[in-house]
Amino acid sequence: MVSNSSSLLFLCALSLLLPLISSTSTIPLSFFQPSSIKDPYQTMSHLASLSIARAHHIKFPHKPFISTTPLSPHSYGDYSISLKFGTPPQSIPFIMDTGSDFVWFPCSKRYICNNCSIPGQEIPAYIPKASSSVQILGCMNPKCTWIHNTTDPLTRCKDCQQPNSEKCKQICPPYLILYSSGSTSGLTLIETLVLNNKKVPNFVVGCSLFSTHQPAGIAGFGRGLSSIPSQLGLKKFSYCLISRRYDDSGKSSMLVLDFDSNSGKKTALLSYTPLLKNPAVPERKSLSVYYYVGLRKITVGGKKVKIPYKFLIPDEHGNGGSIVDSGTTFTYMSYNVFEPILKAFSQQVKQFKRDVKIEEQIGLKPCFNVSGHNMVSFPDLKFHFKGGAEMKLPLANYFVGVGSEVVCLAMISSNFYSSELFDGPSIILGNFQMQNYQVEFDLKNERFGFRQQLCI
Ligand SMILES: *[C@@H]1O[C@H](CO)[C@@H](O)[C@H](O)[C@H]1NC(C)=O
Ligand SMILES: *[C@@H]1O[C@H](CO)[C@@H](O)[C@H](O)[C@H]1NC(C)=O
Ligand SMILES: *[C@@H]1O[C@H](CO)[C@@H](O)[C@H](O)[C@H]1NC(C)=O
Repeated sequence: MVSNSSSLLFLCALSLLLPLISSTSTIPLSFFQPSSIKDPYQTMSHLASLSIARAHHIKFPHKPFISTTPLSPHSYGDYSISLKFGTPPQSIPFIMDTGSDFVWFPCSKRYICNNCSIPGQEIPAYIPKASSSVQILGCMNPKCTWIHNTTDPLTRCKDCQQPNSEKCKQICPPYLILYSSGSTSGLTLIETLVLNNKKVPNFVVGCSLFSTHQPAGIAGFGRGLSSIPSQLGLKKFSYCLISRRYDDSGKSSMLVLDFDSNSGKKTALLSYTPLLKNPAVPERKSLSVYYYVGLRKITVGGKKVKIPYKFLIPDEHGNGGSIVDSGTTFTYMSYNVFEPILKAFSQQVKQFKRDVKIEEQIGLKPCFNVSGHNMVSFPDLKFHFKGGAEMKLPLANYFVGVGSEVVCLAMISSNFYSSELFDGPSIILGNFQMQNYQVEFDLKNERFGFRQQLCI
């Protein structure tokens, strides 16, 4: 897609002459020059800081981190889907997020969202009054424990003196959810979710009345009980993320929800690696939401990067390991994982000068000044997963253009060394790295499948 065969041949010849670089990828520089982004420095720095905030939140779920970075109205870093709720159905956009479980939408005409709005464009909200199928989730309803888990319902539902009392009208207490950037709060509803060929009654969904920094509602696709796959009892779901070059263009690909694929059959051409469970679950419920995969080895330019093994496997406290998170833009790696990768790139890339000034400005590194080159080539980056599946990323999935002269590795890291594992996963595989990949979460067979493919 990104390189014609003659330049590939040229590259092959070139790499024979450069024994230090055993494998590289080449792409025309023009690929990295997005036409629609007005201020590339600000946009990249914004996406980088969002990814950092997201990583912080996943790793320190009990220490909420409220980012003050403004959300750019376009290209906010996530992928969204549209879902219909109610009778008659109301269509609402949601961010598709495999890193969380709750599903909520902006709700009522009085919805307030601070630092969310796209100037001149209202955030679409669900209107409860317009639906004949809506109910407020009752406090004694067992589904209320998905949001407020106290073993004793009477401490949750103080007004319900008798357990199982049908007369008790108390509602499930309001929720407050803190995300990496921003928050949302509201009341929990039971409503009908209308899919194109199926009605799902009694779906638990949040009616948010107040949010900060939320460009849209969120559809949690994680492993928790309140997520879409859990509530629908999906056997698997799959999607293909179209290239970030089409941000805000309205172009789309398909998210497939599979209700009854009962066979153990693999999808043709997909490579699979087992979905893993965090050993610390259920003691650390927040970690139980994530899809862990066994990333075992990373190679740069065909050479194995020396990553301390303990960062690749969650320990008995649940820290370490890798997750797949569609709600993260740039892949996050903790310092001890990222630093050897950074070193490998800076050692192997001899053709271009590093631009430390821009690295500091936008929070991505390494960045190289590729001015004056029509074609750029960089060492290959390959992820090797448990079971033998390999993901050789296309160059467009790990280098990003910042202005017309500089390209940067599209990954972020914590910036301090520690011999110890920090809270949460060490690696968060973000959506930027999954562009033009067909990915499948096979929940029935507990495996993650992928293959490179043009999504449109
Ligand atoms: C919106 O964000 C700006 C800058 O990030 C901040 O100064 C302001 O207080 C925020 N406003 C609200 C209502 O949160
Ligand atoms: C609630 O917590 C209890 C004990 O911590 C646990 O056994 C149970 O599975 C939890 N329920 C839900 C719905 O998460
Ligand atoms: C990249 O290098 C060129 C030539 O050396 C220089 O003119 C230009 O200012 C550099 N660009 C940036 C963004 O530093």
